[in-house]
Amino acid sequence: MPNNNIDKQVPISSLPRHIAIIMDGNGRWAQRRGLPRSAGHKAGADAVERIVRACVELEIPVLTVYAFSTENWKRPAAEVSLLMQLLLEYLQRKVKIMATENIKICFLGERDNLPEKVKTAIERTEVYTQENTGLIFNIALNYGGQQEILHGVKEVAAAVAAGECALAGINQAFFAQHLYTKGLPEVDLMIRTSGEQRISNFLLWQMAYAELYFTETYWPDFDKEALLAAITAYGNRERRLGGLK
Ligand code: FPP
Repeated sequence: MPNNNIDKQVPISSLPRHIAIIMDGNGRWAQRRGLPRSAGHKAGADAVERIVRACVELEIPVLTVYAFSTENWKRPAAEVSLLMQLLLEYLQRKVKIMATENIKICFLGERDNLPEKVKTAIERTEVYTQENTGLIFNIALNYGGQQEILHGVKEVAAAVAAGECALAGINQAFFAQHLYTKGLPEVDLMIRTSGEQRISNFLLWQMAYAELYFTETYWPDFDKEALLAAITAYGNRERRLGGLK
């Protein structure tokens, strides 16, 4: 049984299968404390550790976090390089522990223009954890939802042009196999911290029927209790998925 204290409010059957998080507010968290933005991102990396652990405890099948969007390259070079460095440190520190916790780590996004060190680290991490059967922990890195869909369209178009598949056979399930999230359930619950209410090019296809949950809490303060509040709100929503009650 999942080790959670929400089973009285939310039946296990209505736990989300896939939670996606836009981790927003690191900069404002730091600013409030008179600290540099870098301190906010470091605290944000600690929050990632806490939430991964909470998802393992709750037996959530899939967690996807938005670590770096295709638009984040517009930030000052020093901040971009700090975010890459934090990710590298996180992987170095955590990968062995995650493997023992049976976590499978995957990366969603375009890899070509990532720094070589980061590319190597993410490939190693994926290989190291690929046989694990517990939580699937996706890190969206250099990720954009529109870019992902375009990438999938190009793959399908090439397959049609090569005569490998017929136009008539292309449906949603087929197309979903050409996304980074191939084989995973669609997003049930999307959480965005810091009070912003946008989806910012995140998992556009996969969030078609997701419940959206926005909280004022800045990401570095987001903890297991805050996650439970989001899951409880999700459990209380009526999901009709386009049908009737
Ligand atoms: C948004 O806050 C946050 C990001 C763009 C980066 C998220 C990165 C981390 C949490 C740390 C590293 C990640 C991993 C997976 C270890 P913001 O800077 O836009 O905050 P603001 O809107 O308050 O300025």
